[in-house]
Amino acid sequence: MKICFATNNPKKIEEVNAALAGNFELVSLTDIGCTDELPETGDTLEHNAFQKARYVKEHFGVDCFADDTGLEVDALEGEPGVYSGRYAGEPRSDERNIDLLLKNLENASIRTARFKTVIALLLNGEEYKFEGVAEGEILNKRTGNGGFGYDPIFLPNGYQKSFAELSLVEKNAISHRGKAVSELIAFLNHI
Ligand code: IMP
Repeated sequence: MKICFATNNPKKIEEVNAALAGNFELVSLTDIGCTDELPETGDTLEHNAFQKARYVKEHFGVDCFADDTGLEVDALEGEPGVYSGRYAGEPRSDERNIDLLLKNLENASIRTARFKTVIALLLNGEEYKFEGVAEGEILNKRTGNGGFGYDPIFLPNGYQKSFAELSLVEKNAISHRGKAVSELIAFLNHI
């Protein structure tokens, strides 16, 4: 079964492909001829995930799913949250986002945080939602070269390695998106 993952992020495609284990053929936005910047103007992850998926369905006519992810840091009252991608402003930069987060947490003793992912699926005229959460804490400095986004400064609970030090399979097993994708796949396998 073919399904479009409405993202321009090749790292995300790679992560989800690893989790799909050959049951589905994932097509990207490029594969369906979409080079548009997808709209995400809401103030919740759910709003943005559905906004992106509906945009693709409306303009390209394909069933698809879209994800939106945020990093909630307790010492910053849940920031950057839904604004994680643009935390340090436009153009989006993982490096500047991390620098700003580390600066804002310079004197913080409580560094607990969590990634949250919402996946919006549009299939056969119906809409479905899947969610995943990964709890952890924010490190004092970058560690590891893998992953993307805030991975080098996120230490998942129960691990001595940052997300950026884990293999794709290890990260998928415990990550916010990995959990949400597992729910999605379990659902797709039963329709
Ligand atoms: P988006 O909603 O997926 O675009 O993600 C919002 C922000 O969270 C961006 O800065 C991403 O780089 C970051 N992000 C999303 N997923 C992950 C992840 O799995 N690890 C680290 N950062 C992530």
